[in-house]
Amino acid sequence: MNAMIDRYAVFGHPIAHSKSPRIHAEFARQTGQALTYEAIEAPLDGFPYAISAFRAAGGCGCNVTVPFKEQAYQLASLRTDRADAAGAVNTLRFDGPDILGDNTDGAGLVNDLVGNLDFDPAGLRILLLGAGGAARGVGLPLMERKPAELFIANRTAYKARELSSRFDCYGGGYDALPGRQFDLVINATAASLAGDLPPMPDDIFARGALAYDMMYGRDTPFLTFARERGAKVADGLGMLVEQAAEAFFVWRGIRPETAPVIKLLREA
Ligand code: ATR
Repeated sequence: MNAMIDRYAVFGHPIAHSKSPRIHAEFARQTGQALTYEAIEAPLDGFPYAISAFRAAGGCGCNVTVPFKEQAYQLASLRTDRADAAGAVNTLRFDGPDILGDNTDGAGLVNDLVGNLDFDPAGLRILLLGAGGAARGVGLPLMERKPAELFIANRTAYKARELSSRFDCYGGGYDALPGRQFDLVINATAASLAGDLPPMPDDIFARGALAYDMMYGRDTPFLTFARERGAKVADGLGMLVEQAAEAFFVWRGIRPETAPVIKLLREA
């Protein structure tokens, strides 16, 4: 009987192209956990209702994606430190009367860097491009890795300064970048979506630098720019799978293997 199987889901708008159901189905198979995971499109003005309906129907927890991560933060009755630091939640767990809100995006990025790409940010100079939701999620976990420096650059400079004060690092506009080099440059802007390139100086990459685009599934102008300037490059597919694994751990207490799932998605 299906009623016995624990239900999970991802909520977003749009959500049709989400890879999360595929990823969690793989995790469940691999770990022998009996659960279902579906993609649910919540109406733009109906996120809280969609969550309570899912909970009432036996949902155990869910992921939350664009544009509902801030609303999910508001909905949570308990929050982890990394959710508080982000001001956004991508993972909810229904605990009796409580709703635990967590944010696994930053852990996903750090685990991809350290575990899959063999690129530990400890002691390195990090440049984070963008100050929107995607950047907010990763600030605290990056700082916890003890980089030499984290600088947040954003088109709208005050947002970068505001965000940097949350993480006790530095921030400003792109005009602060000329003359500086970084070992790790992370693109957390929405520029790639529009086929745009954040306005970085030509010599931004230090020797051996890694350019990381949180986007995945296509070669972005950012990655092309970086490759042409001798940087190593990575897209965000590893982060996607790692944030999912971290959410799976929050719900089930078991850590799935990520490498085979990343490989599977790359080949798909
Ligand atoms: P997300 O949740 O994906 O981060 P968001 O909150 O809308 O989305 O934030 C988008 C980010 O991409 C912002 O940092 C935005 O810069 P502004 O704050 O100045 O708007 C950045 N961004 C979007 N298009 C960009 C472009 N063409 N060049 C540089 N930055 C861009």
